[in-house]
Amino acid sequence: MRKKLVAGNWKMHKTRKEAADLVCAILAELGGGSSCDIAVCPPFTALDTVAPLLKGTPVALGAQNVHWEVHGAFTGEISAVMLKEIGCVYAIIGHSERRQYFGETDQTVNARARAALTAGLLPIVCVGETLAQRDGGETEKVVEAQVRRGLADIPADQWSRVVIAYEPVWAIGTGRTATPQQAQEVHALIRRIIAEMAGATVAQGLRILYGGSMKPANARELMSRPDIDGGLIGGAALEAKSFVDIVRASA
Ligand code: 13P
Repeated sequence: MRKKLVAGNWKMHKTRKEAADLVCAILAELGGGSSCDIAVCPPFTALDTVAPLLKGTPVALGAQNVHWEVHGAFTGEISAVMLKEIGCVYAIIGHSERRQYFGETDQTVNARARAALTAGLLPIVCVGETLAQRDGGETEKVVEAQVRRGLADIPADQWSRVVIAYEPVWAIGTGRTATPQQAQEVHALIRRIIAEMAGATVAQGLRILYGGSMKPANARELMSRPDIDGGLIGGAALEAKSFVDIVRASA
């Protein structure tokens, strides 16, 4: 049985002070344990502020990106070793906003994912089609290419730490969620592709999160589908109550 994961992607929100306040509110709202894995992914500037607050709690720390080299002349980038040192467990990789605005490609996604794994981080690799691609009947083709290229050449012994997030671009920040059926279809497709790439056992153990306007009101139905193993939450993760309500809905 796969343990569900609910991760908050805070995107470019929250100063250090605001981040500390949100984490404290999340921990208070959680009030102890949880049956699923939980992570928050604040902006880089707040990681070091949030890390000590999460020590000894059920909430893990994640970053929103990671570079593929350990160090070097890469102005503006942050390496996996640096993130590990701060206490990060996860790193989101290849979010559609990075693909859309910052030139992220399947090749750079792949390099980042492999570097994250090498450093001991758990990559959350994002895939998903645009509205034009869905309307054009290209969803399966697009997602398959992103999965195969983004996760090419993952060493066999590292597959168990990979997480995939299916985030249809048309559902992100739009309030228009994929239906549980639409999401389940793509999740099942991704699991079939992983089975071909890495074997049935890896595919059965791999967590595939859904992201795109997941809210307390729709989270339970989405996460009750057999191949939906949690959520990557944007807007609803910026408020303690709605984030924790989604965590509870995963049970
Ligand atoms: P929203 O939940 O705001 O739609 O964002 C989803 C997302 O992009 C998470 O990575």
